[in-house]
Amino acid sequence: MSNAPVDNGRRRFLTVATSVVGGAGVVGAAVPFIASWNPSEKAKAAGAPVEVNISKIATGQLVRTNYRGKPIYIVRRGQDVIDALGGHEDQLSDPQSNEAQQPEYAQNQYRSINPEYLVAEGVCTHLGCAPSYQKGDFAEQVEGVDYGFFCPCHGSKFDMAGRVFSGVPAPLNLVVPEHSFLDDNTLIIGVGKGDA
Ligand code: FES
Repeated sequence: MSNAPVDNGRRRFLTVATSVVGGAGVVGAAVPFIASWNPSEKAKAAGAPVEVNISKIATGQLVRTNYRGKPIYIVRRGQDVIDALGGHEDQLSDPQSNEAQQPEYAQNQYRSINPEYLVAEGVCTHLGCAPSYQKGDFAEQVEGVDYGFFCPCHGSKFDMAGRVFSGVPAPLNLVVPEHSFLDDNTLIIGVGKGDA
């Protein structure tokens, strides 16, 4: 063991120098981490609103698009389908859409802004399978109801407003995303009514 006097001035310098290097190291490591918080152009595009030209959708037709990585179904409902929505409400789990599965402006019997268009995520609220659109042959699933969505995975059933029938595995109505109409021919998904 050395009996040499301790050089306090040198020790202090070493302590300060070490702290500075340590600090620089932290900053150096933090920069790439912070940079990763900025979403990429691709990520930004994936979250951007989606415009859909609805002028060519025939009555009864379903078209699909994607928004934020989820499939979106857009169906143009005929007047017969719209009128039939009131006829089976006693068989639905949440006919008044009391659960927050849609924006406030779509909390109505049609679950939409314009009764002619259903806009809903094509994702079953049980375990996420894609329900199939049954046009005219849905009565095989629910007697007396001609149109609806049937989930092939475990048999959940939804009506033409995306409302779930009782007694199936899915607990909730299909999710209606924020949407609005720019004009008669343009639907925009991701921008709510009054937010444009
Ligand atoms: S995922 Fe649709 S019924 Fe199970």
